[in-house]
Amino acid sequence: MKQRTVYVCTKCDYQYPKLLGRCPQCGAFGSFVEEKYEDTPEQTETGSKPRRGILRSEAAVLIGDVSTADSPRSATGYGELDRVLGGGLVDGSVVLLSGEPGIGKSTLLLQISGVLSSTRRVLYVSGEESAGQLRLRASRLGVISDNLYIYTETDVDKIVSECEKLSPDVVVADSIQTLYCGSTPSQPGSVSQVRDCAAVLGSLAKTRGISVIIVGHVNKEGGIAGPKVLEHMVDAVLCFEGERHQNFRVIRAVKNRYGATNEIGVFEMTDKGLSEVENPSAMLLAGRPRGVSGSATVCCMEGTRPVIAEIQALTVKTSFPAPKRAADGFDYGRLCLLIAVLEKRLGLRFSDLDVYLNVVGGLRLDEPACDLAVAAALISSLRDVPVPSELAVVGELGLAGEVRGVTNLALRVREAARLGFSRIVIPKRGTDTSMLPGDIEVIPVRSVYELLPIFAPKKD
Ligand code: TYD
Ligand code: MG
Repeated sequence: MKQRTVYVCTKCDYQYPKLLGRCPQCGAFGSFVEEKYEDTPEQTETGSKPRRGILRSEAAVLIGDVSTADSPRSATGYGELDRVLGGGLVDGSVVLLSGEPGIGKSTLLLQISGVLSSTRRVLYVSGEESAGQLRLRASRLGVISDNLYIYTETDVDKIVSECEKLSPDVVVADSIQTLYCGSTPSQPGSVSQVRDCAAVLGSLAKTRGISVIIVGHVNKEGGIAGPKVLEHMVDAVLCFEGERHQNFRVIRAVKNRYGATNEIGVFEMTDKGLSEVENPSAMLLAGRPRGVSGSATVCCMEGTRPVIAEIQALTVKTSFPAPKRAADGFDYGRLCLLIAVLEKRLGLRFSDLDVYLNVVGGLRLDEPACDLAVAAALISSLRDVPVPSELAVVGELGLAGEVRGVTNLALRVREAARLGFSRIVIPKRGTDTSMLPGDIEVIPVRSVYELLPIFAPKKD
């Protein structure tokens, strides 16, 4: 048997016979790992080995002859998760649930396995925990059921034969990095192992109509550890985010063949596992400081749902040669850009200040509609004047300091009104104020200058 060594980029799956410092395809540094392949005899003799693929059909068929029946879905028992999945777990689909260690992936999957097992047969395969540990956790979460099977195994071929014996409707594989495939010569967790194991599980789903949920750990940079190709092989990629030391958890669909990708599901980690948070705005606002500078509230859209989030900024005199900027939950480049706009258009001086920005609750804001609230938090901290606590801010900021329109304005304003805000700053351009709810005062602004009166010292 001949052994070959190739080096594979873990970011984009580029392969090269030598170790490279920088990937010529995706430009990542230090992303190459060594992979060893053994050419099996049948491969060297016939020159081709049947490759593992997910889908196989006997012959081509006319598109019109394909049955159009919608794939049935099963509710997971958690409305928050069902919404992210696009209405429930689709039969025969492969879902990848990724997240940092300790975020609660195994807990969530054990809980939904418990719910699903009331109507279907569920097999929970764990390569990380012993059956005893799982049993302990299951009894703590209250998920003992007659239709939930536990299997501690890491060999995918054994998992497949167990599935043949048991014929489950749902299989959970926790986690893909611990599984291995006997015919692939590299270590579990390596690029080729992850890919081959996912292919075996994928074909199990497609040929037998089993819903497969795969757990994937994320690496230091936040990407799914293992090849990028894993994302292409599954039907949906869900990311489980949040701070491990906070109770707030967010599930986000990064890819979904059966639904929209911009929905989020919000959970809270309690001593009885994860529970749904149906009203995230109220929870996010719970510990909001009053009368303190540097805090602003924005109404952002998470999928089709408006969510009120608190943004905190802190500006302090720098002790470094170049001032420090740090952003948590917000794009770093965008923060620098907004600081530059405020410096140029309002003449504010941030060049000798360190700037820290934080989005409360572990939420990630990537919508331009949050710009104006970030600007408000920055100005408030710089001037040390609080943003009034009954005021919400929505709007995109352009480089000229102009405030641009945002989508779904009426939904955002309504959510702010529902949560007890009495005033909201909105973009003036393209806004039809007659469409907005009447129980909240709207303050339309054209440019960032018009934000300044909020920070004027109060006249008594
Ligand atoms: P876990 O599901 O094991 O994380 P993952 O599979 O993503 O690595 O979650 C572990 C964390 O969750 C652990 O730090 C303890 C906490 N936890 C609770 O707070 N309450 C609970 O009821 C359970 C089961 C776990
Ligand atoms: Mg786990």
